[in-house]
Amino acid sequence: MDIKKYIPELIEKAFEMRNRSYAPYSNFKVGAALLTKDGKIYGGCNIENAAYTPSNCAERTAFFKAVSEGERDFCAIAIAGGPDSGVRDYCAPCGVCRQVMAEFCDPETFTVIMAKSPEDYVDYSLKELFPLSFSPENLK
Ligand code: THU
Repeated sequence: MDIKKYIPELIEKAFEMRNRSYAPYSNFKVGAALLTKDGKIYGGCNIENAAYTPSNCAERTAFFKAVSEGERDFCAIAIAGGPDSGVRDYCAPCGVCRQVMAEFCDPETFTVIMAKSPEDYVDYSLKELFPLSFSPENLK
């Protein structure tokens, strides 16, 4: 699948999902949009908790929504994150989210898009972001 044509839509959706963020503790709002191999898009936002540790990142929200709906094949995720006041920097996925990506995605081809706007983004393969990872391959 050629993900290039989906990039504007993915970024737009990530920003839309950012408006759903529940982040009263960090005030750092993140939205994500996950693209399946058959062209469906699942959104997610970060969801914090007064006990802090149950908090969930936007990326994992998107993955868990999609996987729980039966999806297993993914090709890209767009991320938009920043303080309440707006997205100023590229928001990189945390290590735990990278591990979740490694569970379901081909590290060579899965693309992580970090966006400041639909026109201003960077993209990396999962392998670039998460080299030498522990994955299902290790348990075969
Ligand atoms: N967060 C995400 O949702 N995704 C990221 O890529 C980085 C961090 C969330 C977790 C927490 O709710 C807030 O941003 C501050 O760390």
